[in-house]
Amino acid sequence: MRMYDIIARKRDGCELSTEEIKYFIEGYTKGMIPDYQASALLMAVYLRGMNERETADLTIAMADSGKRVDTGKIKGKTVDKHSTGGVGDTTTLVLIPLVASAGVPVVKMSGRGLGYTGGTIDKLESIPGFKTNFTTDGFIKNVNKINACIMAQSPDIAPADGKLYALRDVTATVESIPLIASSIMSKKIASGADSILLDVKVGSGAFMKDLKEAEKLANCMVKIGNNLGRKTVAFITDMNQPLGLSIGNSLEVREAIMTLKGEGSSRLKEACIAFGSCMLMMAEIVSNEAEARAIIENNLRNKKGLNKLKEIIMAQKGNPEVVENPDLLPISRQIVEYKSDRTGYINDINAEDIGKAALYLGAGREKKEDKIDPTVGIVLNKRLNDRVIQGETIAYIYVNNGRGLKEAVELLNTAIVIDETCPKVIPPLIYKIIA
Ligand code: URA
Ligand code: CA
Repeated sequence: MRMYDIIARKRDGCELSTEEIKYFIEGYTKGMIPDYQASALLMAVYLRGMNERETADLTIAMADSGKRVDTGKIKGKTVDKHSTGGVGDTTTLVLIPLVASAGVPVVKMSGRGLGYTGGTIDKLESIPGFKTNFTTDGFIKNVNKINACIMAQSPDIAPADGKLYALRDVTATVESIPLIASSIMSKKIASGADSILLDVKVGSGAFMKDLKEAEKLANCMVKIGNNLGRKTVAFITDMNQPLGLSIGNSLEVREAIMTLKGEGSSRLKEACIAFGSCMLMMAEIVSNEAEARAIIENNLRNKKGLNKLKEIIMAQKGNPEVVENPDLLPISRQIVEYKSDRTGYINDINAEDIGKAALYLGAGREKKEDKIDPTVGIVLNKRLNDRVIQGETIAYIYVNNGRGLKEAVELLNTAIVIDETCPKVIPPLIYKIIA
């Protein structure tokens, strides 16, 4: 078998065999297939697509590119959650502690930022000392001890996804249903989740721009999960405006802490309560949704979720003091107010452009090797449909040495639309649940 022929076959629209897919994943994981050939195949898949069988084969090959966590070693039924990627989507940092504090073991394998979307691992690493690299044994030990561990891809678990994810990020091959589905599901399968909750984002700040495509992706992943014996549920949720108010790594950690303290964005909180309830039901520790919701809402109110976040930070060698005192999180040297040039109502906050603005400031990567700046980003002071008067601050831009400020302001100018007309209907948070 030759990588050249596999690329050519996919380029010409042919279906790849199970063996060809395995050959590619094994060869690329071992470093025998170079990035340029992998990039060419990714682009061919992006343009030509993959059928259900190919996508399932790709997922299994990627899940088996490393070890699989033995769920038998984890007490209780494990749950996991994954988002297809959004802007200001800080859900994981709020949700995981809430679910873990209800007694459900959470095995969370997260990614880094991809394109203009943020990544949980990048966000967590903005907490001084926080460690996300674990061996499978270390991961299991943490979960058994405190019901949660959030780890990055490692050479141990789904390493193929680790490498492909970074490559896709810089080769314009992210927005592909087979590539997203296999990336997410391979990690979930390898990291030992008995149940998987998927948050499939749709809208201007999501990789899927319309509902039909989002449904396709959701159905594809739910099918793969269920076929492999994992209870899988997908929520299709709105990403036409950033979910939370903060976009950028340490800024989002701060917002997660505030949310667990009962402050923060109501939309983010609503998402966490809906997902958390579903995860408790999937773990079968409650018998109905009302009961599940009551537990999650309670753990938000009584600060059990907040305390669990502190435990997670401590167990992963981060400075737990940030929970009491978020000012200990790193922050940019300069904060610039972005003000409204007119009076009216906020008619649009284009999430993709806001994500890109944060990228320009240094919150994400342009090249694989790029170091992110954990301190920069944007904090919105207004939401869709809010009234704003001329000269009022719409957003705060967190910036270092002016890097990317001009580009970020230009993007905000087009992303934020202010009109005199009456507010329009705000898109619902949850469009659909696919089980
Ligand atoms: N999240 C992932 O883990 N992979 C993708 O491809 C997109 C979002
Ligand atoms: Ca178990």
